[in-house]
Amino acid sequence: MRIGIPKETHPGERRVAATPASIAQLVKLGHEVVIEEDAGAAAGFSAEVYRRSGARVEADPAAVWSADLLLKVRPPTEDEIARLKPGAILACYLQPATSGRLLERLAAASVTALAMDAVPRITRAQSLDALSAMANIAGYRAVVEATNAFGRFFGGQMTAAGRVPPAKVLVIGAGVAGLAALGAARSLGAVVRAFDTREACREQVQSMGGEFLTVDIAESGEGVGGYAKEVSQAFIDAEYALFRDQAREVDIVITTALIPGKPAPKLWLRDMVQVMKPGAVVVDLAAEQGGNCELTRPGAAVVTDDGVTILGYTDLPSRMADTASTLYANVMVNLVKHLGGGAAVIDLSDEITRGMTVTHEGAVIWPPPPPAAPPPPAVLPAAAGTGAASAGAPAAAPATGVEPRAPREARPRGRVWPPVVGLLIAAVWVFLRWRFGGEGQATGDEAQAFVQHLTVFVMACFVGWHVIWNVKPALHTPLMSVTNAISGIIILGGLQQGSQPWQRPDGSVEPAVLFGLAAILLAMINVAGGFLVTQRMLRMFRKD
Ligand code: NAI
Repeated sequence: MRIGIPKETHPGERRVAATPASIAQLVKLGHEVVIEEDAGAAAGFSAEVYRRSGARVEADPAAVWSADLLLKVRPPTEDEIARLKPGAILACYLQPATSGRLLERLAAASVTALAMDAVPRITRAQSLDALSAMANIAGYRAVVEATNAFGRFFGGQMTAAGRVPPAKVLVIGAGVAGLAALGAARSLGAVVRAFDTREACREQVQSMGGEFLTVDIAESGEGVGGYAKEVSQAFIDAEYALFRDQAREVDIVITTALIPGKPAPKLWLRDMVQVMKPGAVVVDLAAEQGGNCELTRPGAAVVTDDGVTILGYTDLPSRMADTASTLYANVMVNLVKHLGGGAAVIDLSDEITRGMTVTHEGAVIWPPPPPAAPPPPAVLPAAAGTGAASAGAPAAAPATGVEPRAPREARPRGRVWPPVVGLLIAAVWVFLRWRFGGEGQATGDEAQAFVQHLTVFVMACFVGWHVIWNVKPALHTPLMSVTNAISGIIILGGLQQGSQPWQRPDGSVEPAVLFGLAAILLAMINVAGGFLVTQRMLRMFRKD
């Protein structure tokens, strides 16, 4: 397949959809890659390095636009669409929710258009998530821009010449970009706080050393697939009250609040800007969607009469063109692999492909049909003793996306009762047979032994249940902690069984000892495996 990489023509766009490294990967997959001369110049990649990586560098854009698959960043212009050949595939940002006319033009040109900003946010599609990759860069860069416009240190300092207090940073919208901004500001020593309508963000903000602000109103902004939904006016009014308080105190405000497919909500109003300290900075990451700040001018920096700077840059990822292009190009290689690796296959039965395909075979096919309704919450395992893996396993992920964590209440705490009740019924039955039974009457010793064992078993159920579910997942994931707690109990039982005399009076081996030793071995494998997996996971996050 011939893959074309055109030069971005949008004013100020420095990114490119392929890097020398990504081209080498595409060539290795057996593709011919044609790249426009100077396509990567603004991102720091010369034509020569592209050539060395195996690409054909073309000065004539027509040679690139006639490819079978076009990879680019920004939506195509009218002229560019006219250059595409019928049946070609185009992958780039398309903002399908607000670009009806563009989609119609692409459909009329018989182009299959894949919107990189419409990839469903499901775990399986993470390697294609260009939005998150760029939002991460935008959040970091927002802090860099803020430090540049802000005339003070971010971190507090105590020097012989005097004390400088730390800057106070407020992040509104703690999604991917917001969390990246929060992390960058915190690492510079600022005091950080964040607000979001989604309660799910609280832990993320706190785990990064930020304070999570709340409003006194019971409403959740949690939408489908981890995204936000619009909140009521009462909630927005409560946000305004909170932000008015914060406005007098904070030095930097970074706003990232967005609702997919809607204009950005206006959250930082004129009167809030007016009470900010002179020298304060607002960075509006939602500028491209109209801005969260009333005074934002998209694409520009504004300084108010009171000395507050409002940055409405819409090209933050592009300001780090090298990194942004590298990540975007990796996403593009993942896309080619997702489409089969060889000649691209548009399989509309695949949830990811369907979600991002906006035009196909001459028709606009966006929006995709709504995702299948999430399955009813999985009934967690009925019996306490059905095994570690099932007891701790999360409920099946809904087709919509982010895997939900089973809420604490959903844990099968109450499920210990059915087996206990069953055992009690069995005990009563044995007792009645012993006391009143005829032929097959149990002997007194048997019945007594049974009742003793049963008592121990029921007690073990209670104690074991509480031990297992109250283990704090400090070293492991909650699932591994639970399985390790179960393994710990198994090892104790195995030790007790294994410490009995291993030979019976008749010289044969006592099977209970063998079973005990086998139980110890298997449980040890589970515990050691858990630590090995944890180590591997930790290594993935370790910086060399
Ligand atoms: P976004 O860029 O669409 O929105 C940014 C943030 O603004 C969101 O956190 C939203 O809750 C917040 N917001 C909206 N209205 C607000 C208001 N009135 N006041 C304050 N905050 C408001 O979202 P982003 O960052 O692209 O992703 C949001 C979430 O999606 C992530 O935090 C994550 O949970 C989920 N996600 C899941 C992925 C996956 O599973 N593959 C990939 C990426 C994101």
